[in-house]
Amino acid sequence: MKKYLLLSLLCLIVSIVNAQVTVTGLLSENRVNPLGLDVVQPRLTWQLSSTQRNVLQSAYEVVVGLSAAAKGNDVVWSSGKVTSGQSVHVPYGGAALQSGKKYFWKVRVWDQNGKASPWSETANWEMGLLQPADWKAKWIGQGFPEDSIMRPSPLFRRSFHLAKKVKSARAYITAHGLYEAFINGKRVGDAYLAPGWTSYNKRLQYQVYDVTSLLQSAANAIGVQLGSGWYRSHLAWEDNKNIYGKTSGLLLQLAITYTDGSKELVVTDENWKSSTGAIRYSEIYNGEIQDARQGNDTWTTTTFNDASWSGVQVQQPGTEPLIATYNEPIRKKEKFIPVKIFTTPKGEKVVDFGQNLVGLVEVKVNGKAGDSVKLTHFEVLDKFGNVYLANLRAAKQQAVYVLKGNGTEQFEPHFTFQGFRYVKVEGFPGELKPENLTAVALYSDMKPTGTFTSSNALLNQLQHNIQWGQKGNFLDVPTDCPQRDERLGWTGDAQAFCRTAAFNMDVLPFFTKWMKDVALDQFEDGSVPFVIPNVLKGVKATSAGWGDVSLIAPWTMYLVYGDRRILETQYPSMKAYVEYIRNKAGDSYLWKGGSVFGDWLFYKSMAQTESDGYTSPDMIATMFYAYSTHLLAKTAEVLGKQDDVKFYTDLLTKIKAAFVKNYVTGEGRIASDSQTAYVLALKFGLLPDDLQVKATQYLVDDIKGRGNHLSTGFLGTPYLCHVLTENGRTDVAYDLLLQEKFPSWLYPVKMGATTIWERWDGQKPDSTFQDAGMNSFNHYAYGAIGDWMYQVAAGIDVVESDPGYKKIKIQPHISDKLNEVGASVKTYYGTVSSKWKTSGSDLTLSVEIPANTTATIYIPAKSADGITENNVALSSAAGVKVIGQQGDYVAVEVGSGKWEFKSSK
Ligand code: BGC
Repeated sequence: MKKYLLLSLLCLIVSIVNAQVTVTGLLSENRVNPLGLDVVQPRLTWQLSSTQRNVLQSAYEVVVGLSAAAKGNDVVWSSGKVTSGQSVHVPYGGAALQSGKKYFWKVRVWDQNGKASPWSETANWEMGLLQPADWKAKWIGQGFPEDSIMRPSPLFRRSFHLAKKVKSARAYITAHGLYEAFINGKRVGDAYLAPGWTSYNKRLQYQVYDVTSLLQSAANAIGVQLGSGWYRSHLAWEDNKNIYGKTSGLLLQLAITYTDGSKELVVTDENWKSSTGAIRYSEIYNGEIQDARQGNDTWTTTTFNDASWSGVQVQQPGTEPLIATYNEPIRKKEKFIPVKIFTTPKGEKVVDFGQNLVGLVEVKVNGKAGDSVKLTHFEVLDKFGNVYLANLRAAKQQAVYVLKGNGTEQFEPHFTFQGFRYVKVEGFPGELKPENLTAVALYSDMKPTGTFTSSNALLNQLQHNIQWGQKGNFLDVPTDCPQRDERLGWTGDAQAFCRTAAFNMDVLPFFTKWMKDVALDQFEDGSVPFVIPNVLKGVKATSAGWGDVSLIAPWTMYLVYGDRRILETQYPSMKAYVEYIRNKAGDSYLWKGGSVFGDWLFYKSMAQTESDGYTSPDMIATMFYAYSTHLLAKTAEVLGKQDDVKFYTDLLTKIKAAFVKNYVTGEGRIASDSQTAYVLALKFGLLPDDLQVKATQYLVDDIKGRGNHLSTGFLGTPYLCHVLTENGRTDVAYDLLLQEKFPSWLYPVKMGATTIWERWDGQKPDSTFQDAGMNSFNHYAYGAIGDWMYQVAAGIDVVESDPGYKKIKIQPHISDKLNEVGASVKTYYGTVSSKWKTSGSDLTLSVEIPANTTATIYIPAKSADGITENNVALSSAAGVKVIGQQGDYVAVEVGSGKWEFKSSK
């Protein structure tokens, strides 16, 4: 009896604990405990977690303080109990935040029954240097003449003495070029290619590091090396270098607080010394040359004697505003050991890492002084299995290491990155073994958020390739490709891929940062350069489908993350771009001459006519004019700008009318009878209702006529399958997705691709290559199909009226060609997942909805009768509200929790 009572008591306690909502996952301005913010009103986000279903927040209370206890005088803001369901992007509402100060916060919530959660754990953020006057450091450059050909990396150092005990210390660092800092021989932080890439002439990021543990009492030394980086390397083509400046420079401020409360600064100034070391040459495209004989391992320690070093040159202060870092730094991520070391038919020694990636190779080598090891990074082997470099164009992609000959030496490049799966190795002393080389991926350290799996192994590999395309091309800015002499922030590629990217990873900080550069680099007339940061000197042009990133990306971030502030911030840029087009189009409402790149790289079969698959660039320009105007009107609506809503809605009506009049026949034929023409017209809502069925049929006919093949390029591809689904032809979308012969998404997979290719036929079935002038094997644009895989195949979508997954739509699309599809996304509310499985005519749909959200789930079934939830008939299932039959689905509404529906097809 006693035992029984005890057990029931225990069960009661467990259920009380389980029933309770807890608050986790605290984000300060979309990041975990960020160091160095200059957002004056950071936004706070938290997640509710509970084992119960249908959990909603009815109220919250936030307390922000100057200490982890956040009590008494320490409190700088207490929201009080606020009746609100908002748990994402709640703006800080206290007194003005101060430079360099750390703020701690916690939150508790009340659930739908008015029951309070315990307080969350404490999270924090620290402000950066908010005023220019907070910077006491001076810009310094090397104090000796530069070898203007090789431009070896300058080293800077100084030693200093700390008389008292250090309580905390921060290093604020930036550079003209790239920097890597060390204190007492230890690397400061784990960021690579810092300070990242912004439109340097308009704004320059600095980073903040907690260096408390690197300092020691009494003697200390600090050393920093610089690379040319994006600041002054060759970028783009011809002799395009020194884009932002000729001379590299360093700005560093070390702020020390002693345990007695006193403070001290160590800053860059005339007291520093400079020299060069092992890094003799370093460029983004070409790679790095190091000569260990000219380096010294101790140069950042106190024991090093810098008597022979030069002084430094104090430079004029930079005129660009210094800004805190908004997004995650580039970090070292996955590591790969060689899967194969072999000799090609031509006799080249080659290492295969098994994955096309972007980053660097760490080398361990034992040899004589003066031995030189050369690595040439490349993506593919040619038809005969030899090294293929032609598609790298002018980029050398090399790392050269000259040994000093004192046992095992370790090398890695510091100020460059390469795109490669293979390296050719020359000059390696002794036998090359797998343990000698490790490839390391470098990319912006965005939180992974998405998974996609299915019963089809090729499709799973496609998802892998899409994710690796993203990793390789999200290096602080979204680039087109990471290997040839390009690696630029092409705007068209970014708009095509941003929605897919936002499934795979949390890209809000990344795009928030980059979109500001889009706005800053926008030309005065509102047009948007081809690449951002704009390094194409003298090119003053925009292209339809490229410049539209200025609307498409912020709108996408708003939908996915519910971030209204990005719309507020970007609104002037969004409007300026549409106004630019409006000026060009005038009363014709047609944008002629606005598309430079057209439907870039659409697939053109050699067997067909020249114009096969071609879409008129002028027509494309007007279609994007309409779409951007539409997004602007919607944004104005969100922001409550009613005059603009009216103006741009009227404008849209006129553009649509002009489009139909000029480009569409009464039978719904579009002037360019191409897949992309129908896709864009349907997706952007440009056709009158009565022509949509016909237009869809022409699109389907074209696809079928090619034997279930696509012919779309960068602009049509992202929307192709969506348009088919939205118009009732998901069957055809699946035919395209699962097509294994080229052109298709799975063709490269079958050819052994580990990333997304730039071209549908980058490598032909006979293993010959497309035009080497433009043939990257790591270009994410066509990976935009990922969005359809998550959103349609697995069926996870946002609801525009309550963005950021506050309301969720789950509508999976079943195909006879697959037995199983599942996807999950970590949203700002928590994990959303949807997985369907079929067996004969039985279907199981498992869904997870995070707390503080609601969902409409569309269960594939002809009637509600045969459906069960967790083995209970739908009509009596607790927490499920049946809406009714909608086409081939039964719609239900649910709250948070895990749900399992079974039905018979
Ligand atoms: C890039 C792109 C880009 C295109 C525009 C190419 O060189 O790699 O992906 O969008 O140029 O023409």
